[in-house]
Amino acid sequence: MTTPTAEKPVEGNRRIFSVDVGSDGVAVITMDVPGEAVNTLSQAVGAEMRVHWPALQADPKVKAIVFTSGKKDNFIAGADISLLKTITSASEGTHRSRETQLMFNEMSASRKPIVAAIHGTALGGGLELALACHYRIASDDKKTRLGLPEVMLGLLPGAGGTQRLPRLVGAQAALDMILTGKEIKAQRAKVMGLVDEVVPQAILVEVARKRAAEFAGDKPLPKRGLDALIEKLKKGKPDQKALQALLLEQNRVGRMVLFREAEKQAAAKARGNYPAIPKALEAVRYGLDNDLEKGLQREAELFGELVVTDVSKQLTNIFFAQTALKKDSGVNEKDVKPRPVKQVAMLGGGLMGGGIAYVTTAVANIPVRLKEKDVEGLGRGLAYVRGVLDDRVKKKGITRLERDEHLAKLTGTIDYSGFRNVDVVIEAVFEDLALKHRVIKDVEAVTRPDCIFASNTSTLPITKLAEASSRPENVVGMHYFSPVEKMPLLEVIRAKRTNPEVVATAVALGKAQGKTVIVVNDGPGFYTSRILAPYINEASWLLSEGGDIHQIDEAMVDWGFPVGPIMLLDEVGIDVAHKASKTMLEAFGDRMIPPDGIEKVIQDGRLGRKNKKGFYLYTADKKKKDGKKPVDETVYDLSPQGRKRKSIPVEEIQQRLSLQFCNEAALCLQEEIIRSPRDGDIGAIFGLGFAPFRGGPFRYMDSLGAAEVVRRMREFESRFGKRFTPAPILVDYAQKGRKFHA
Ligand code: NAI
Repeated sequence: MTTPTAEKPVEGNRRIFSVDVGSDGVAVITMDVPGEAVNTLSQAVGAEMRVHWPALQADPKVKAIVFTSGKKDNFIAGADISLLKTITSASEGTHRSRETQLMFNEMSASRKPIVAAIHGTALGGGLELALACHYRIASDDKKTRLGLPEVMLGLLPGAGGTQRLPRLVGAQAALDMILTGKEIKAQRAKVMGLVDEVVPQAILVEVARKRAAEFAGDKPLPKRGLDALIEKLKKGKPDQKALQALLLEQNRVGRMVLFREAEKQAAAKARGNYPAIPKALEAVRYGLDNDLEKGLQREAELFGELVVTDVSKQLTNIFFAQTALKKDSGVNEKDVKPRPVKQVAMLGGGLMGGGIAYVTTAVANIPVRLKEKDVEGLGRGLAYVRGVLDDRVKKKGITRLERDEHLAKLTGTIDYSGFRNVDVVIEAVFEDLALKHRVIKDVEAVTRPDCIFASNTSTLPITKLAEASSRPENVVGMHYFSPVEKMPLLEVIRAKRTNPEVVATAVALGKAQGKTVIVVNDGPGFYTSRILAPYINEASWLLSEGGDIHQIDEAMVDWGFPVGPIMLLDEVGIDVAHKASKTMLEAFGDRMIPPDGIEKVIQDGRLGRKNKKGFYLYTADKKKKDGKKPVDETVYDLSPQGRKRKSIPVEEIQQRLSLQFCNEAALCLQEEIIRSPRDGDIGAIFGLGFAPFRGGPFRYMDSLGAAEVVRRMREFESRFGKRFTPAPILVDYAQKGRKFHA
């Protein structure tokens, strides 16, 4: 029987909570935000909660409370992020944080024990609510995940997370969650002490109800933190590791050591670009040095400071862009539906093919037929997939049984047997036009007429590939990034004759493989390789002017890229990058002209990391200097300036490189290679690691203003010539004072 304790209608009678009081005196309160797939915390939720809690506390029939969710596979996803946009001042941010804190404080102060019954995602404010309960039980389902992802939005957990989590699991484990935003599965959460019990979903509420009734009776609530350890010590079975950690954390000196180390690591990672990291550290530390209430107040103040920063706004923009892309079919034509994909065939099981086979079987759950050119190649391809799966088993991401189930969906061949009924063939053979033409013909001879042929080429225009096809409307590009199992982006390339339904199918398949997908029009280098080319080229120019490898790379890492451009050259392969730059030069002329000298590097046998000879040293005996990889100084001997390098102002390095990148992105928008500035931002961030806190090239240009971008370009144009001529679209926007994003 459902007895709503709140009689007042909320949000036009649509109730978020229902309350069911059983004869055992346990009230099960179920949250189910009407009309939404997941529960989020909003002011409407707060308003209704404020009606329920006093009523539950006052109701003599209610002895204990179970808090749960009515959503499928979701407890609470966190705060409603769109509300963050409405906060205009730090004090308003602090006030909002305090409001939620006070609501959770009431829960935690409840005389009637509250048990959280968690199934599905409990993130951000959702986990903070669970932390305010007295006992937590999670379902053992793999969809049950707990985390505090606020740092990814440039924030800190502002509803008690920086205070209650360290008190529950210790500072070290709490910082690990808060500073990375990682999600924890139920079993691991139990080991950490984040949840008290893990049970099958079918009996979750039943067990929670039983525990709540027991706690309302004479069963004491479990002890936490040091008290729990003392209890264990008395029983003679202390956990040595936990004891050491807690002893370290329990005294100020120990904590100082712990935090100094954490601050050092965080500073090295964030490089001053992500203020949420030091502020989250401060909130945790302050809370442990003071009492809970003071800690909560500090948390709210720091939350307020963060929520109005540009960094947080940019990271929130990325979140919204990603959300919008999830709902985007990838084509502007109306009523285009993706075709069902029940079977995929993979051509080539090398570095890329192996990764694509993995995301297709293990993430998208689609059977894959892998074709290689010989038995050795096939063995390597199958072993690649198995290796990634084994690694996941080792890291407890999946069980052995799940691994075996995924492997059972992967079969291999060295001819085209088993291709008759596949819906999509993804090609990742060598980057060779003649070979790709041959395999298109071979594939079309053995597949259904509606079978889609998707190429993972990184440089060859899809229109050119489709010349060998008798059904070019079914040919599309699916450009993945290496390593496929880790990199989040997929660039789908639409050639002139590609059918929109085929594009939509490639997009849907990419999403099922766990990718963020952008659709771009065909052209040399598509979008991502094209904007990378002038950036890398400018780094080569800086080198040719006598620049220092280390200084150039460090400048760009400080600017926000994960690695510098020269190290990236070593990673990609200097020969591969050189080949791509030639293609770009042919296509775009003047602005892609490389400096003399890069040929000499290749002639010297330097291919980069793959042959352990490039711009950096790869010999094991060379110790890292200041934790940094040492440069191979002998590479300087190939240039006229030799080893005597000149120091170029850091700001000049950063401006020249970032402007090249952004100007090319603007040209891609002007030429309709990308569909929108949003896609341009996401492609650059998720495919190339463009500084997320700058929001992507278009958001970055908007923050400078087109007029300022043009001014800087003109200044460099006068020094270095045409490669700095600003894109006409930028000049136009500068004149009109227009922005890329509304
Ligand atoms: P890879 O050399 O590791 O793998 C190519 C595989 O294709 C080899 O295992 C080879 O045995 C197999 N193969 C050759 N001819 C075949 C045939 N007729 N039938 C079946 N298999 C055949 O090369 P990788 O790096 O995997 O690249 C593959 C494609 O992906 C290329 O077009 C490349 O441009 C593109 N790509 C590569 C990226 C990278 O970072 N390596 C990134 C994005 C795209």
